[in-house]
Amino acid sequence: MNSLDNTAREILERNDKGRYTIPTSGLYPYQWNWDSVLAAWGFATFDIDRAWTELETLFNSQWDSGMVPHIIFHEDSPGYFPGPDIWDTGQTPPTSGISQPPVAATVAAKVWEMDRQAGAERIRALFPKMLAWHRWYHTVRCVHGPATITHPWESGRDNCPDWDIGMEGVDGSGVLPYERCDTRHVDPERRPQKEEYDKYVAILEFGRNCGWNDQAIMENSPFLMTDPAMTFILLRADRDLIDIARALGEDTTEIEGWMADLSAAVPSLWNEELGSYDARDLRRGKWANNISSGAFLHFYAGIRNPAMDKRILDAWDAVTYGIPSTDPKADRFEPQRYWRGPSWPFMNALIAIGLKDAGLNLLAERLRRETEALIRQGGFYEYFDPTNGAPCGGSDFTWTAAIWLAWAGRT
Ligand code: DGY
Repeated sequence: MNSLDNTAREILERNDKGRYTIPTSGLYPYQWNWDSVLAAWGFATFDIDRAWTELETLFNSQWDSGMVPHIIFHEDSPGYFPGPDIWDTGQTPPTSGISQPPVAATVAAKVWEMDRQAGAERIRALFPKMLAWHRWYHTVRCVHGPATITHPWESGRDNCPDWDIGMEGVDGSGVLPYERCDTRHVDPERRPQKEEYDKYVAILEFGRNCGWNDQAIMENSPFLMTDPAMTFILLRADRDLIDIARALGEDTTEIEGWMADLSAAVPSLWNEELGSYDARDLRRGKWANNISSGAFLHFYAGIRNPAMDKRILDAWDAVTYGIPSTDPKADRFEPQRYWRGPSWPFMNALIAIGLKDAGLNLLAERLRRETEALIRQGGFYEYFDPTNGAPCGGSDFTWTAAIWLAWAGRT
């Protein structure tokens, strides 16, 4: 084992709170949904039992509706805003009121593959919970065809220009007074701006005022957008859930139906003028007009689209390290501001899975090598400037360590 493997393990162990892992101390002191699932992939490289525990802890906080929340506030940590009192979801332990992209079935399938015997009972117990989460996505969030998000945080790509158009329709001027904590931990120049934060809080307050009622939020929330990344991640997860179901001898009809419906909705994500899959503001019927790394997950969903393939290469070739989160040629590209340009190791990993599945092995390997270089040069940071490799955001980051162990550091 090399020294970076050791460091990656140490980071996972340091961020490990026993049955769940925090993304990084200070900035993100609770359990985050997709961070946690990716942590499980990293743990599986040296401790399969701990990997299953991570997934089990996440699903222990599943709502009766099937929704799996994006944050679980296991223990009090006053250094984070918005904390459990602000979300006020009435869950025990407290949780946020929105979800995050469903990578769990995909990672659970990988973890199971790594040790079939050790995972046999664990995956059997998790299967109905994952099924219920997918059912929630398909019946609640996909009623307009593609998968929608009701808050930019639900996409996990918080301030991506994908959401600018939808955020225009949100009034953040009347939010209750609050104090941000994120900018105490990292450079404010690399975080979302104040105006965006006011709107994040306004959308949250709307959900809370609806008692987190799904139907009321879908019908009336000030923010509702279709998300190519959420759609592609869900499609891929459906496929992996079908494989799990078959191996367990479970019926796959319902999942196949969801997949067929969602696949049929993919063409509606295509913005002809932009020549790319694109997010769309459903409140005002307007495209985001942004090419983002989220749209590059089409391979991961098993979709082939030559026009989109060219888009990836154009964006990728315009930088030095990894896939940029926003098209470098766009005016809105900011190489160090959160989701407005930086490259994210875990997104690179998901995109590379898709490239490999499509038989594009050289591209998948190029992406791995560039991600490896980012981490070797810069350390286990949250994200990186794709033009010069500068490390950004939180340090000692769980999903960067996990991705190193599971993919980037494996030659
Ligand atoms: C944050 O606090 O920045 C998170 O991304 C919300 O999930």
